[in-house]
Amino acid sequence: MQTTNQERVIRPVRGVMGSLRLPGDKSISHRYGMLGGFAEGTSRFSNFSTGEDCASTLSCMEALGAKVTRLDDGRVEVTGVGGRVQEPAQALDCGNSGSTMRMMSGLLAAQEGRFTLVGDASLSRRPMERIRKPLEAMGARLTLTEGHAPLTIEGGELKAIDYTMPVPSAQVKTCVLLAGLQTAGTTTVREAVRTRDHSELALRAFGARLARTTDSVSVGGPQKLHAIEAAVPGDISSAAFFLCAAALFPGSGLVVEDLGLNPTRATLLDVLTALGAGIGVLNLEEKHAELVGTVQVTGPREGLGTVAVTGALAAQLIDELPALAAIGPYTNGGIRIRDAKELRVKESDRIALVVKNLRAMGAEVMEFEDGLDVPGGQRLHGATIDAGGDHRIAMAFSVAALRAEGETLIRGAESAAISFPEFFELLDRVVVR
Ligand code: S3P
Repeated sequence: MQTTNQERVIRPVRGVMGSLRLPGDKSISHRYGMLGGFAEGTSRFSNFSTGEDCASTLSCMEALGAKVTRLDDGRVEVTGVGGRVQEPAQALDCGNSGSTMRMMSGLLAAQEGRFTLVGDASLSRRPMERIRKPLEAMGARLTLTEGHAPLTIEGGELKAIDYTMPVPSAQVKTCVLLAGLQTAGTTTVREAVRTRDHSELALRAFGARLARTTDSVSVGGPQKLHAIEAAVPGDISSAAFFLCAAALFPGSGLVVEDLGLNPTRATLLDVLTALGAGIGVLNLEEKHAELVGTVQVTGPREGLGTVAVTGALAAQLIDELPALAAIGPYTNGGIRIRDAKELRVKESDRIALVVKNLRAMGAEVMEFEDGLDVPGGQRLHGATIDAGGDHRIAMAFSVAALRAEGETLIRGAESAAISFPEFFELLDRVVVR
């Protein structure tokens, strides 16, 4: 593999072998950074995400008055504002991060002041109406730009609501909970599909009381948060690229240690098992209510089978779908994805880009509004891949390239740093040539 920043050449390999420990989960790091910055006292986090997205969250919290220090031992230390942010002089720059913008909007809606949130070109195309609706129902005033960022919040005292989410989204759920945390009365969020519950677990770790049922979460406000010391588990959505890569090659074996295995995030392990990969989970333990463990994956001798990802599964696996689709052609029976329309409004239109790039590699693939069909038993050739500024597309096609014939050029490879700056280096370490 070559190492220019913006373009990477990936050559075919014979397998994947070795053991890895990955940087901290992006979703959990966002929450720890945001809650630590809002809490009273000084929090310290080891294995905090090294991605640019979480750096955006930390710099926004700094602009709001929190103090962030990177300690010599690699930990991130955050001294919080004790429940009262300062109005920043400038717009808060959320970079490429939808999580930062949507979750922080809830935090700020209940604070006195005027806050403007901006993002890069990709984030400025993503739907923000979904947070305006509940926050306005709580009494906040939000001004969007044609449904998108830049957005301005006139924050202040809110009223509690009972909100049923029309689209499954952990970011929207968190947005409402963070506003509810600061609001008198009980705020409830209802969801038809249980989305990732890191906010619920993190809020409790920071001392908040929440009530949960199978399809709702309620927070009574106002409540104060208190600093914590925590280790962030390895990011399973980053691990996904390596797990899929190992599963692709008969006889491959990979171990990923200290990996976050929260059940709302670990669906990929079930899907890989359904495809015939050998999956083992060892050393399971709980850290601040987050499950952490070691995962072993082996590539089956007879190759991968077939799987359909639809319904609730699609929502729970949403970030892993590009990686799964990218290995689809190499399975025996293909991969079918539906009910995944949300993929079209991620950092890029991930359905369109996966289809375009699979076709560039010579694959047959059918595109649908809410998913795609990738027939199995195909041979792909190297091609020039357009990552479209999307980290997960850059990494997914680096995995597809490992089994193609000839070289693949990943254009826009630098976008991997949004979630996983170490990706190419670690990939290089575990491939067998
Ligand atoms: C995230 C939730 C998901 C996911 C994103 C991170 C989170 O987005 O795709 O990468 O940390 O809450 P939605 O809330 O839009 O589904």
